[in-house]
Amino acid sequence: MEKAQFFVFSAVLFLVLAPNLATAQLRQNYYANTCPNVESIVSSTVSQKLKSSFAAAAGTLRMFFHDCFVRGCDASVLLSAANGDDEHSAGADVTLSADALDLINKIKAAIDSNSQCTNKVSCADILAMAARDVVSLTGGPSYPVELGRLDGKVSTRAIVKYSLPSPAFNLDQLNSLFFANGLSQTDMISLSGAHTIGVTHCDKFIRRIYTFKQAPRTKAVWNPPMNLWFLRQLRKTCPINFSKSAVTMLDNQTPFKFDNAYYQNLQGLKGILASDQILFSDKRSRATVNWFASNQTAFFESFVSAMTKLGRIGVKTGSDGEIRRVCTSVN
Ligand code: HEM
Ligand SMILES: *[C@@H]1O[C@H](CO)[C@@H](O)[C@H](O)[C@H]1NC(C)=O
Ligand SMILES: *[C@@H]1O[C@H](CO)[C@@H](O)[C@H](O)[C@H]1NC(C)=O
Repeated sequence: MEKAQFFVFSAVLFLVLAPNLATAQLRQNYYANTCPNVESIVSSTVSQKLKSSFAAAAGTLRMFFHDCFVRGCDASVLLSAANGDDEHSAGADVTLSADALDLINKIKAAIDSNSQCTNKVSCADILAMAARDVVSLTGGPSYPVELGRLDGKVSTRAIVKYSLPSPAFNLDQLNSLFFANGLSQTDMISLSGAHTIGVTHCDKFIRRIYTFKQAPRTKAVWNPPMNLWFLRQLRKTCPINFSKSAVTMLDNQTPFKFDNAYYQNLQGLKGILASDQILFSDKRSRATVNWFASNQTAFFESFVSAMTKLGRIGVKTGSDGEIRRVCTSVN
């Protein structure tokens, strides 16, 4: 192909592909004309909710992550199917927070009760704004959020377990899943800093605090080191016959504050999940952990940039999407 021809070909290809480049659709102040007060409606509903249920903060942040990694940021995580074939009935999503879902429904109701805004704001955007607001309301950075996502029409159980990271993942497994979503190792490390708030159930790390007999010829379960005093504390919260509802805070130092203590915990070998502690144990990611542990501003800046990239994953446009009337079901 001649150079000029190639240029025309590339330009045409770009025009054909451009509508599929989701990022081109998102922008700040997307609802400036259709629902100008949307951000203040969202933030006041969020702060109201956090007064009665602080747990909704962590729950909402996690829900946004799980939405974006499974079929893109399209609120598919909110859909409920009568036959149970939906994301929140599967894998890691079964422990998504009921308080977070309640918060999203409350925001949707508050927006739609404003006659100018009725049925104009997508549930996917509501989740993105709410996730932004819980971060700043718990002490983290505040940042402008890109909007303009449509709500997806599909939610299935099967895809969940292939789409979300396991707490037993090592650095290579974490990186390859995040790379597949367009996120770098630094993005992955700063997003893991979301574990500065919220809880985990005992089953997610029980293998780290007891030695289980291995079946013959199976490889020992991989386990990064843990502070011994801390391990003994965790055994009190999670005895070997732990109850299914028992939880511990992911950041034991400042569990209710969005800060960089998560990274300091990792330096002290007090990361709860194996996937947390490995970020310090593996030499390839340790320098970034040390940097975020010593400089909260650097962590916050990196977190904002990674959240923005996270929010662009798999955004729906055109007939693939809609503005849902009810966040838990397709129109
Ligand atoms: C890097 C890979 C990640 C893994 C393996 C992972 C795994 C987990 C696990 C196992 C839990 C506990 C769930 C339970 O017991 O109910 C959890 C909780 C949580 N995760 Fe992650 N996560 C990861 C990344 C992220 C990201 C990127 C975010 C958000 C940006 C996030 C936000 C949260 C929050 C806020 C909680 C607490 C939820 C609550 O208290 O309701 N996680 N995560
Ligand atoms: C676990 O076992 C101990 C001792 O047998 C018992 O006292 C405790 O109530 C049990 N805990 C749970 C959560 O079943
Ligand atoms: C912390 O990080 C910020 C943002 O990257 C940078 O501007 C600042 O110089 C850093 N502070 C120190 C003490 O290194």
